[in-house]
Formats: sequence, C-alpha cells, structure tokens
Amino acid sequence: MHDPPRAFAVGEDGPQHMIEFSDVTYVYPSAERDVAALDGVSFSLAPGEHVAVLGANGSGKSTLVRLANGLIRPTSGLVTIDGDDTRDVGAMWDVRSRVGVVFQNADNQIVATTVEEDVAFGPENLGVPVGEIRRRVDDSLAAVGLTGLESREPHQLSGGQKQRLAIAGVLALEPAYLVLDEPTSMLDLQGRADVLAAVEHQRRAGRGILHVTHHLADAAAADRVIGLEAGRIVFEGPPGVVLADEDGLESLGVALPPVGRLAAELRSRGVAVPYEAMSAESVAAAL
Ligand SMILES: Nc1ncnc2c1ncn2[C@@H]1O[C@H](COP(=O)(O)OP(=O)(O)OP(=O)(O)O)[C@@H](O)[C@H]1O
Ligand SMILES: [Mg+2]
Repeated sequence: MHDPPRAFAVGEDGPQHMIEFSDVTYVYPSAERDVAALDGVSFSLAPGEHVAVLGANGSGKSTLVRLANGLIRPTSGLVTIDGDDTRDVGAMWDVRSRVGVVFQNADNQIVATTVEEDVAFGPENLGVPVGEIRRRVDDSLAAVGLTGLESREPHQLSGGQKQRLAIAGVLALEPAYLVLDEPTSMLDLQGRADVLAAVEHQRRAGRGILHVTHHLADAAAADRVIGLEAGRIVFEGPPGVVLADEDGLESLGVALPPVGRLAAELRSRGVAVPYEAMSAESVAAAL
C-alpha cells in the first residue's frame, strides 16, 4: 500500500504531534553479547510537555536520546517524530531539525570561534537566508540570556554559559522538541539554575522537553518522570509519586538528598510538605 499524500496525512486525522516510541528495542551493533541497551520502550512526548528521564549509569538514557533524533534507528519497534518514521532516510533532516539535542559536554558541541558564529552554524548549514539567520541568532541568544556576548570566544565562557550556548545553537534550528542529555551535570548550582530557567522558558514557548538528569530537583520540575532500569521503563508518572518512593529512587541510581529525606519523614508524620520542596527554605516554608 502507498502512503497517503502528505497533505492528507497531516490533516485532522493525521499523525499526532509528538515524539513517539513504540516498543523500541536497541542492540548496539558492536555489543559483545546480544544485550539490548533499550528493551521494549514505549512512551510519548507532546509539545509543551516537560518529561524527565531518571536512570542509573548504563540504563539506556543516552541511547534513548540518540534514538529520539534519528542518530541511531531502532533494532525493532518504531520511533516517530510528528508521524515521521526515523528509519525513513528522506525524513532524516526534517527529524534532526525538529528534535534538537544538547549533550552533556558542551565543549564537544562548540564549532566556531565566536558565540554568534557558533549559533549561526546550524541555520547556515540548513540554507536559511542571511537576514533570517541574524534574527534567529539574536532570538536564540536572548532566550538563554547570552545577549551581549556575541563576539566572545566560546572557550572564554563559563561552563554554564557554554551549556546555554549549546542550547542556543539548537534553538536556532527552531526545533519543536528539545532533548537534553544531562546538560547540567558539570555545572554548579547557579549554572544549573540558569540552564533550567532557559529550558523552562522553552517549555512555555510550546516546545516539548525531554530532560535526562541525575538531579531530583530537575525531575521535580517536570510534568512527568520516566524511570529507566537496564533498558526498560520501570516507572512512569508524576514527579510527586517517584520522589516519594525512596527505594524506587535508589534503583534508579539517585539518592534522596538529606533535605528530601527530611521532607519524606515529615510527610510520613502527616505534615503537608510538597514533593517539589528540595531546599531547606522550601521545606521550612511548608512548616
Ligand atoms: N557505542 C556503544 N557500543 C556498544 N554498547 C554501548 C554503546 N554505547 C552504550 N552502550 C551500552 O548500552 C547500554 C546503555 O548505555 P547508555 O549510554 O545509553 O546509558 P546511560 O544511561 O546514558 O548511562 P550514563 O548515565 O553513564 O550516561 C550500556 O550497557 C552501555 O554499555
Ligand atoms: Mg548517558
């Protein structure tokens, strides 16, 4: 059977706008044994939704990220972006520009010798007209709070600024989805807060956010949390539920910080401390 024409396919009954994993299994071709890095994973991410992915080292988080923008293709199962199958070579550039990925190490993502050239690099490669590139560079730098640093050399930026530069580079492609693979793991508290603020700004602008993280505070800020263990989803639900389950968190490779443990103890004694309370101040405010 032939696919219906595109105009029909994106009509009212056409594909949903979302990233969709359907029973996805992935085995690295180089894997010594046939161990799946991801095993039967299904979930979806809609525009404007913020989903956090928690999991121990080696649980398959980065594999999931690579599958989400078509860098690798499922061994079995299906990954679709707004209905486009990532195995479809014809849709590859469309998929890559709709799903922007930011990796852990910003240094590996810097490609130019000034901040503005770095952000312009992506749209230039897509053949975006010059005037339009200017607008996108300005908008993207403003969105991550780096306006004024256009002519700086990227290596002169702080870690948090570099990571926000990497996000700006992805935003310049105007993606519908942002996929972040532990973007704040190398940053201090302020750097993390700045990156998170930039991400939240993008969610409010209607982008779908998939945020791989080891930080419970990041998970608390999400609409939904997915827990990965040995390539399988072992949990999916609102942050309040996962953050309340100390044993479950341990199996996801994350420990409740002392303040979180205190909050859990207070809750067990009937004090209404919100699950998002991850600082001494926010716990105190609940008392
Ligand atoms: N290029 C590769 N070739 C073979 N096996 C790989 C490759 N990359 C990852 N793996 C294996 O796939 C599994 C999942 O790895 P992945 O990098 O997705 O985990 P992760 O959750 O991102 O871990 P981390 O928290 O350390 O970043 C691991 O067992 C890993 O050893
Ligand atoms: Mg990883």
